[in-house]
Amino acid sequence: MKYDFTYYNPTRIHFGKESLSELKGELGLYGDNVLLMYGKGSVKRTGIYDKVNDILSACGKRVTELGGIKPNPSYSQVLEGARLVRENGIDLILAVGGGSVIDCAKAVSVAAYCDGDAWTKYWIDFEEPTGRIVPVGSVLTMAGTGSEMNGGSVITNEEVMLKNGRVFPSSVYPKFSILNPEFTYSVPEYQMVSGIFDTMSHLMEQYFSGDDDNVTDYLLEGLMRSLIVSAEKALENPNDYEARSNIMWAATMGLNTVTGVSKTQDWEVHMIEHQIGAYTDCAHGIGLGVISVPYYKYIYKYGIKKFVRFAHNVFDIEISTVSDDETALKGIAALGDFIKKLGIPDNLRAIGVTEEMLKPIADSCVTGGGYYEMRAEDILKVLEAAF
Ligand code: NZQ
Ligand code: ZN
Repeated sequence: MKYDFTYYNPTRIHFGKESLSELKGELGLYGDNVLLMYGKGSVKRTGIYDKVNDILSACGKRVTELGGIKPNPSYSQVLEGARLVRENGIDLILAVGGGSVIDCAKAVSVAAYCDGDAWTKYWIDFEEPTGRIVPVGSVLTMAGTGSEMNGGSVITNEEVMLKNGRVFPSSVYPKFSILNPEFTYSVPEYQMVSGIFDTMSHLMEQYFSGDDDNVTDYLLEGLMRSLIVSAEKALENPNDYEARSNIMWAATMGLNTVTGVSKTQDWEVHMIEHQIGAYTDCAHGIGLGVISVPYYKYIYKYGIKKFVRFAHNVFDIEISTVSDDETALKGIAALGDFIKKLGIPDNLRAIGVTEEMLKPIADSCVTGGGYYEMRAEDILKVLEAAF
């Protein structure tokens, strides 16, 4: 461990088949006015909406609803939620859904009493929240983003074609999150693999940085191995409780900040995907899956030791006596095989990217990077290789 850190995570997690029964106790900690946020309708089809509403009524809550939150939530929906919070004196925002609903709930929480334009303040200038922060709680219905236990909030501003993410301080993290793996059984396979690869990408983005002997890297390798095993089981049987619960907890652990401790981290794949998402509205994890192999092939030489370790410790590839390049490339190929098994396409055209979009996407990505600092021209080469 090389870098100093302070670690704190305030989200209380209730995990398991009976975890929704903990909602009553959590609601007791807040006032009567609840803003119930959910997505485009899955919670109504699965009955989770009714179950949550029954608990809200039994607790005597006055409920204001904001449904229809879209995947890749938009800034206009944030403003709508902020207005509802102010008009109804909301005491708690309860997000029932996947990462999009929870991200949007956090955005509403800080936008409601924001002094000035929230988009500029929080997603362009990345300022810390200054106004009142309305507490958020969540009932998670889809595993992947880790939003249930972090401060991340990724919002798309359609007017300016930007999908920007940021991490808010712990005061904005959900106060509690309820994780019942059975709630994820109904997630369509395409969304399930999107979530699985999103988690894999979070683990890799944190792993591919630094070469110190860091306990976090061992943790990340274990999570990646578990995720790969459970993904195969869940593809075979989506109702495999053990597999779905491993996936759900790996996703939470994968971005609840513990797996980033004392790491410089990369996040370039995410920066590129966010702009692909702004142009195509593709599922986040699918976009990540399409560009990961071309990206890692582009940068592996700059972090070769780690790519050799990845091949050996995550995919059990024997270390070549001939060259590190051989081992590293076998590891990246094994990652490609995993992506293929998930059924994620291997080209950008399949997710709606056109040739004309490549340059604008490359030019609008926020760059940074881990082993190699990507510039717009490097990103363009990666996009061309993925096209
Ligand atoms: O909208 P509904 O009808 O609810 O359907 C959703 C949506 O179509 C459906 N779904 C969710 N739970 C379901 C279900 N369908 C059936 N049964 C269920 N139990 O799944 C679809 C996708 O949902 P969404 O919430 O968009 O998926 P996800 O959890 O992958 O969230 C993606 C968003 O999170 C951001 C992404 O950029 C994207 O905008 N991220 C947030 C992060 C964070 N907060 O830390 C980090 C991530 O890297 C990511 O960027
Ligand atoms: Zn992600």
